[in-house]
Amino acid sequence: MKRTTMLIGLLAAALSALPLLAAAQQPIVIKFSHVVATGTPKGKAADLFAKRAGELTKGAVKVEVYPNSTLYKDNEEMEALQLGAVQMLAPSLAKFGPLGVKEFEVFDLPYIFDNTAELHKVTQGPIGAALLAKLESKGVKGLAYWDNGFKSFSANKPLRTPADFKGLKMRIQSSKVLEAQMRSLGALPQVMAFSEVYQALQSGVVDGTENPHSNLYTQKMYEVQKYVTVTDHGYLGYAVITNKKFWDGLPADIRTQLEQAMKEATFYADSIAQEENDNALEKIKASGRTEVYVPTPAERAALKKAMIKTHAEMASRIGKETIDAIYKATGFNPAKM
Ligand code: LMR
Repeated sequence: MKRTTMLIGLLAAALSALPLLAAAQQPIVIKFSHVVATGTPKGKAADLFAKRAGELTKGAVKVEVYPNSTLYKDNEEMEALQLGAVQMLAPSLAKFGPLGVKEFEVFDLPYIFDNTAELHKVTQGPIGAALLAKLESKGVKGLAYWDNGFKSFSANKPLRTPADFKGLKMRIQSSKVLEAQMRSLGALPQVMAFSEVYQALQSGVVDGTENPHSNLYTQKMYEVQKYVTVTDHGYLGYAVITNKKFWDGLPADIRTQLEQAMKEATFYADSIAQEENDNALEKIKASGRTEVYVPTPAERAALKKAMIKTHAEMASRIGKETIDAIYKATGFNPAKM
């Protein structure tokens, strides 16, 4: 009798442990939401991160990537991250102002970077790290910067001189610096979620926009824009971010494996970005729907002259010390403008 009671007890204990065992085998799910197409530098890097995270953690982490604003639009995703409804995002650096970290808008200043090498001096150095650290007070942890590229302007009329922009409604991301940049050209900036741009261009709610070619192509914006001007006037890239509480709560070994997956995805994003944008430009040209114009040196100089005043205008918003630190890191000389 005693033995039977003991056996029943053991069986009951084993049964009650079953849900715990099952729970222990459930993978940690990371929902990674973003707004661009899968065939872009960010889309491809997010997919690689998901793959490597699964491999390196041997299935203990499952990253679910939701591209193309399928889960959240870019005016919703920050809140979703803070609330823990998603665990990872990679918003463009132009989208951190509404979160209260205005310093990120320094990346939107027109012509602040001449090329990617100059940009990397910032994103891969102490200034980049200090900017990511500013996110922590918002419950957000910055994990990496991912490249996209330099922007072109598009519209249904040729855009060659500042006068061509006068009165045009130009869609921008939620950045006060981009707003000032468009005003410096006499255009009327309109903040709009990325997912709404194609339709707004098609219906004439806005007249034009700016983006790297990978976005202009994969969102099919070129189908509804007759002219693209390759200005390279400003940079567009990303900060990969996570919910700080979630990240800090991960087991240390898992976090280390995810950091390794992020390192690989970052290397990949940065190594494909230029080529992806070059290929997208070729496809836009080949479509025959959009005329691609490369401005002359004199036209470039006139556009730069008009837009560069944004630096001084936005210094009090961004913080002069942040702007000066970047000038110093890249060798930019505002006195030469
Ligand atoms: C945009 O909103 O124009 C882009 O930042 C979208 C993106 O994430 O590349």
